[in-house]
Amino acid sequence: MAGTRPDERKRPLKTLERVISKAGLGSRTEARRWIHQGRVRVNGRVIENPDHWVDFERDRVQFDGKPLKARERLYILLYKPTGYITSYKDPEGRPTVYDLITEVGTFISPVGRLDLDTSGLLLMTNDTQLAELVTNPDSHVPKTYLVKASKVLTDEQLQQLRDGVTLSDGPTRPAHVVRLRDSGKYTHFEITLTEGRNRQVRRMVEALDAKVLKLVRVQLGALRIGDLPIGRWRHLTSDEVESLRSASRSMTAT
Ligand code: URA
Repeated sequence: MAGTRPDERKRPLKTLERVISKAGLGSRTEARRWIHQGRVRVNGRVIENPDHWVDFERDRVQFDGKPLKARERLYILLYKPTGYITSYKDPEGRPTVYDLITEVGTFISPVGRLDLDTSGLLLMTNDTQLAELVTNPDSHVPKTYLVKASKVLTDEQLQQLRDGVTLSDGPTRPAHVVRLRDSGKYTHFEITLTEGRNRQVRRMVEALDAKVLKLVRVQLGALRIGDLPIGRWRHLTSDEVESLRSASRSMTAT
């Protein structure tokens, strides 16, 4: 059965690797390893091929002899500090955001990334559908950052950020920018982007011949970091999940 992709319109088929990782047991890499180790059975038979097609409504999948349970959806908002990387494992052994959520008890993934030196709001979930909606470039979910620039920026420079600057991967979309204050040699401003390219804020500020000294994400759609202490997390309310879902949906529909 593996190798030829069956018609997914007829049955809800997924690869075994995806079924295991979506069950919230671990990452896709871990799922592949466990399958190769012979820890997974489908309809009583050990299957060592992670690409084996599974009909989750009909097939019985067991991990270490126990049936897989339908997974509860989990959504958390983490206030990521600087110095933590947004991935599961770091080859250099640096701390990761997973070190901050050890008590969550279910495998969840970050929705988008924040740089090592960026702090602020990081959404994490096991709801891959919502994650895909939010990160879809067409969804335009607004993200707001507080920025400290390495010099005082002129009104014209802030206007350039609003209108769009040309980066190596093309011009940026119009942004909302508000000067918060100038303190001595620095400008503090707030910027709201509707796209999420790699290191985008830093590169936009570099295009003005300045550097970002501090970057904090404070809002994603209607989600706000609020008074959550740095390094801590909280569950999203059901209203927050719904508003994120409908904001992403309405944006992709336009
Ligand atoms: N823009 C950046 O430059 N870095 C981030 O981490 C997020 C947005």
